[in-house]
Amino acid sequence: MLVLGIETSCDETAAAVVEETGDPQRPWRVRSNVVASQIDVHRKWGGVVPELSARQHVRDICGVVDRALADAGVESFDAIAVTQGPGLMGSLLVGLSFAKALAWARSVPLVPVHHLAGHIESLVLDGGEMPLPAIVLVVSGGHTSLYRIEAIGKYEILGRTRDDAAGEAFDKVAKLLGLGYPGGPAIDLVSQHGDDRAVSLPKTKLTHADRNAPHLPGHRDFSFSGLKTSVLRYVAARREERGLGPDDPLPRQHISDVAASFQRVVAETLLDRLFDAARFYSARSVGIAGGVSANSRLRELAVIRGASSGLPVFIPRLSLSTDNAAMIAAAGLRRYRAGVVGELDVEADPALTL
Ligand code: KG4
Ligand code: ZN
Repeated sequence: MLVLGIETSCDETAAAVVEETGDPQRPWRVRSNVVASQIDVHRKWGGVVPELSARQHVRDICGVVDRALADAGVESFDAIAVTQGPGLMGSLLVGLSFAKALAWARSVPLVPVHHLAGHIESLVLDGGEMPLPAIVLVVSGGHTSLYRIEAIGKYEILGRTRDDAAGEAFDKVAKLLGLGYPGGPAIDLVSQHGDDRAVSLPKTKLTHADRNAPHLPGHRDFSFSGLKTSVLRYVAARREERGLGPDDPLPRQHISDVAASFQRVVAETLLDRLFDAARFYSARSVGIAGGVSANSRLRELAVIRGASSGLPVFIPRLSLSTDNAAMIAAAGLRRYRAGVVGELDVEADPALTL
């Protein structure tokens, strides 16, 4: 069975063809994976502009889908999986409307997919089925969510961010360090020349009001706005010391040191929570998905912690970490096999819950 996946929830127009293999350990194979990034459209605004994003999706969607089919060497497919939400309304509508029209024209079923279910599926796409129960962290520009997975397709939320998502924190800190957009890759790059212990920054760990209730909702929540403010204060203080104005850049080494320290604190905060939950729930594996899982320091530290705790760590390859449609096609295949097919009047939902 071949599934065409379509993803337009934010600033990437993506299409992919994924094939069912029949191998229970590695159920899917990526036949093609095409992503048209809108980075250049949004760069000068310093972040994603929703209206521009929707308009660019309209321009790119036909070419991206054509290319995904050509790369896969196929003209037909057996189902279409499409991101229904969450995301930007105008952007979601482009992919969903296109998918509905194509499903109708080709008389194939349409399977609506939750964007984060797609990110979680990227772990299986690359690493094969995860030993369950698993604890999975989804860290992206819009989400920082920790899930317990007892059975495939059943996700129990253990914690989420109460303010900024981890990727959003990367983007905002990069902006205040003058590193531009998108912030995550920029911080990752300059951090390679920095000392990650140079700047002391706080690690925030929110718990349930009853600190002895690790099983209750909210006990493993995240918060990154305090960390961002600490970086802001640190940068302002260094500027003042040097008599620099608010728009004058700090010396390069300073920027690298702050970026590396910030990156270490984010990575440690995420991994502390992930491995603590894995221990508490006796998980047999852990996973990290979403755009921030592309972070090189987070990947390195995750592998080290996995080795010391004896747990297999699932992280997708870089091209499947950030938004793509292969993960949507794979999640759609799983849903389709579970009997889920959407009607052609299914609506985009910017706040869809998992
Ligand atoms: O999953 P994704 O592509 O889109 C959303 O669903 O949000 O994630 C995008 C986020 C952005 O905030 C971006 O800065 C961050 O992932 N990101 C990174 C890296 N690459 C992308 N963050 C840290 N380090 C990276 N190397
Ligand atoms: Zn995403």
